[in-house]
Amino acid sequence: HRGAREQVPDTTDLAELRAAAAACVGCELYRDATQTVFGDGPADADAVLVGEQPGDQEDRSGEPFVGPAGRLLDRALEDAGIERERVYVTNAVKHFKYDLRGKRRIHKKPSRSEILACRPWLAAEIAAVEPALVVCLGATAAQSVLGSDFRLSQHRGEVLEAQDFPARVTATWHPSAVLRAPDRDAAYAALVVDLRVAAAQLR
Ligand code: URA
Ligand code: SF4
Repeated sequence: HRGAREQVPDTTDLAELRAAAAACVGCELYRDATQTVFGDGPADADAVLVGEQPGDQEDRSGEPFVGPAGRLLDRALEDAGIERERVYVTNAVKHFKYDLRGKRRIHKKPSRSEILACRPWLAAEIAAVEPALVVCLGATAAQSVLGSDFRLSQHRGEVLEAQDFPARVTATWHPSAVLRAPDRDAAYAALVVDLRVAAAQLR
């Protein structure tokens, strides 16, 4: 597998990109997943939000952030004063990676090579939307957008310039990390604080 680059059409039309991504074989993850989960939202969105990869429910429905993490994200966006309809939501990796435990599919973190393989799709989405701000949700998204030297724990909530993307970037917790946090209320509050910083960039 050689990554997605050769499969990304030279276009800023999101519908064309989405159609091409549906047939992507840029890494091995397409084999065991149901379908490509491409980004979703308006082409003129103010912000692009980047998650890690689709989860079980996203894999079945074909839409990003429709499961438990997505519901938490919707609530956090509302609490931060960001309209969900004004953002484009996508993932660093566009196929669901999992381990089978009996009949349950357990989320498995994408590898560095899988993140790199899928990065051309994310780059194409960001080039198409031309957002004022890219919001990385969690370390995987931040690694894809800001590079593997970026440390989320040290730079959470800061507004940075991306090296390879024509956008400002900020990074915060992943909604799934908030759901797993020992003190969920505190983690949720921190997420909302960071999203308010993002909201201020959009005004
Ligand atoms: N987690 C993600 O990172 N993305 C989704 O789309 C769903 C859960
Ligand atoms: Fe292509 Fe990304 Fe899916 Fe890999 S994860 S097959 S690069 S769309």
